[in-house]
Amino acid sequence: MEFEQIFKQISPEEIEDNVFTLVGKDFPVITAGKRENYNSMTASGGGMGMLFMKPVTWCIFPSNRYTLEIIKKERTYTLSYFPNVYKKQVLFLGSKSGRDSEKMKEVELTSVQTPLGNISFKEAKLIIECKLTQATLALPDDFYEQEAKDYINEAYKEAKVYRQYVFGEIASVWVNTNRS
Ligand SMILES: Cc1cc2nc3c(=O)[nH]c(=O)nc-3n(C[C@H](O)[C@H](O)[C@H](O)COP(=O)(O)O)c2cc1C
Repeated sequence: MEFEQIFKQISPEEIEDNVFTLVGKDFPVITAGKRENYNSMTASGGGMGMLFMKPVTWCIFPSNRYTLEIIKKERTYTLSYFPNVYKKQVLFLGSKSGRDSEKMKEVELTSVQTPLGNISFKEAKLIIECKLTQATLALPDDFYEQEAKDYINEAYKEAKVYRQYVFGEIASVWVNTNRS
């Protein structure tokens, strides 16, 4: 089936889902790369809103995350949100790195290419395509709450790199026409 037979384009204002549920419970799957070489990972931090008068999403990654490497190379990526029945597949994409595994071949999801050439999955209920606009280090001195400072320092100790906030301008939004 053609992409546009499965998904209908909507504007960012027409997204009906609650953003806290989408990010904190559904967990976005972030996918970067083209048909020949793409990679996906699970996220549970991030959001969406307006920035510099543009609709944007934001995510957070350790600076050396493999998916982030591909986002920076391609400058585009998708955020895909799935119905609960696909939770196993969503969590699988967060269980190991595509840098040293074949997780994209193993995952039980069907990849699809958007008209812009980005990759998502037929099973997604909502797809947000983004253009990378900014990747900014989250440095401990920029935090005003001790708890947040401690968190970012602990995260640094564990990964030996700082986290980065990644902002992307929303290029298009698609909803699955079969979503329940
Ligand atoms: C529920 C869940 C939420 C996660 N949230 C994030 C996140 O917000 N940012 C992040 O960088 N990694 C997050 N991860 C970890 C990555 O998904 C995981 O390390 C993944 O294997 C990275 O894939 P990659 O190395 O192929 O890029 C999360 C994992 C799970 C299971």
